This record gives sequence, C-alpha cells and structure tokens, in this order.
Amino acid sequence: MRLKGKVAIVTGAGSGFGAGIAERFAAEGAHVALLDINLEGAQKVAVGAGHGAIALKCDVTRADDIAAAVAATRKAFGRLDIVVNNAGWTHRNKSMLEVTEVEFDRIYNVNVKSIYLMTQATTAALAEGGGGSVINIGSTAGERPRPGLTWYNGSKGFVNLVSKSMAVELAGQNIRVNCIAPVLGQTALTEEFIGGPATPERLKAFMATIPLGRMSKASDIAAAAVFLASDEAEFITGAVLPVDGGRTI
Ligand SMILES: NC(=O)c1ccc[n+]([C@@H]2O[C@H](COP(=O)([O-])OP(=O)(O)OC[C@H]3O[C@@H](n4cnc5c(N)ncnc54)[C@H](O)[C@@H]3O)[C@@H](O)[C@H]2O)c1
Repeated sequence: MRLKGKVAIVTGAGSGFGAGIAERFAAEGAHVALLDINLEGAQKVAVGAGHGAIALKCDVTRADDIAAAVAATRKAFGRLDIVVNNAGWTHRNKSMLEVTEVEFDRIYNVNVKSIYLMTQATTAALAEGGGGSVINIGSTAGERPRPGLTWYNGSKGFVNLVSKSMAVELAGQNIRVNCIAPVLGQTALTEEFIGGPATPERLKAFMATIPLGRMSKASDIAAAAVFLASDEAEFITGAVLPVDGGRTI
C-alpha cells in the first residue's frame, strides 16, 4: 500500500491512461476522485477501482467545473495530496495547415489551460496538508515530435516544460511537480495519433521507432505515477520521466 490514506484527483480518468492510474492508486490505498467530461466512463472505472473511489463530471477547461470538483473531493475525503493532470485531446494526424482554429483551441484548452486552472484551484489545498505531488501527463511528442501532430506536439512541449517551472515555484510549499512522458499507447486517442485505423501495418511502423518494440500500456504509466506520487519519490521534483521504451534516446 504505497499511497495509503492519500487523497488523489485524476483528470481524464474515464478511460485510457487516466483509468489505469486511478485503478492503481486505489489498489495502493489512495482515496481517488475520478474527474472526466465522460461521467459514465468515470463511474464505471470508479466502481471497478473500489476503495471508495468517486466519479465527478468535470470539464477541465472550465474554472467553475474544476472548483466544484475540488470542493467535492475535499468534502468526500477531507484533504488533498495528489493531483494528476491527465485529461488530454488531439487533432487527428494531418498537415498542420489543415488543423482548424476550433481544433487548435480545443487542444490548448484541454492540454494546456487545464493545468493552469487546476493549479489555481488546488495549490492552497495541497499546501494546507503539508505539501503534495502533482503529476502532469506530457508526452514524448513534446521532446521528439512526429510529423502530422504539430499543434498537439506544441501543447505537450508546454506540459513537459511547465512541470519543471511549477516544481521550482511550488517547492517552498513542499509540493513536488513531475511529468510523465509516455510514448504511443493503445487508448481512445491512438487512431488520432496514427491518422487512421490501428491496422497492423500502421502500428508496426510506429513500433519500429520504439527500441523496446512495443507501445506503452496504461499499466506502465500507472506504475510510474504511483512511484512519483508516493513518499519514495519525496526528493524527486521537476523530472520529466519518459515511459517510452527508449523512443526519446
Ligand atoms: N495514448 C497515447 O499514445 C498517449 C501518448 C502520450 C501522451 N498521452 C496523453 O495521455 C493522456 C491520456 O490520454 P489517453 O491516451 O489515455 O486518451 P483517452 O482518450 O483514452 O483518455 C483521455 C480522457 O480525457 C477525457 N477528457 C477529454 N477532454 C476532457 C475535458 N475537457 N475535461 C475532462 N476530461 C476530458 C476523455 O473523456 C478521456 O476519458 C493525454 O494527456 C494524452 O495526451 C497519450
């Protein structure tokens, strides 16, 4: 039980990596609030995760939704120790010139602005409990960009970098901030990243660029998140941890 008694918020926990993180956190003894615009998905994951996990409908691009979800989490569990900014979205893989302004704005609202809003809403609560751990889900895309994902890549470059800057600024309040940078994984976003159905040929082409020869799994990301959230990582802040089978070497 590496997170026994800790209270965690995981955004975008209704599917993919966020679901895997929430499930592992609960298994490690954390009280977890699963935030997602997809309430049904979050509810299903919360039931499976057990340990009193709660699902909350929250659009992470909206300050009022976030404020309500943070208040509900504190009401349910009494404190806040861990925040995982995982919710994310991408435009489909295509020429950067074909990405519409609506798509661009959605990417930067979901992937970038949400971190600003969540930081505003949770820092005082984390500090009040003596400190805490913030984990932002960045991407190898922010370090080694692939073509066809230019504006998404830029949003993840923000996440990777701002995690270091947040770490420096929040260290005085004993709030650690780290970033996990996954390589392509099999989630609801996979087809968007690879620009079409996940055919064996398309996946093979992507996997050929990953030295360990496979895509990431939610369990890989969750294992890294448990470590960074736990007291074992009490002296680790500002790290951007690639979980990428060697893709960014
Ligand atoms: N899958 C990959 O290959 C990959 C690789 C690197 C990084 N990532 C990042 O991992 C994170 C999780 O993505 P995933 O691959 O698990 O995708 P996913 O689509 O399975 O999960 C994303 C979740 O975020 C939720 N979400 C989207 N917009 C939201 C909003 N406005 N408010 C609240 N929730 C919202 C979705 O409903 C969904 O449940 C994202 O930040 C993504 O950029 C994914």
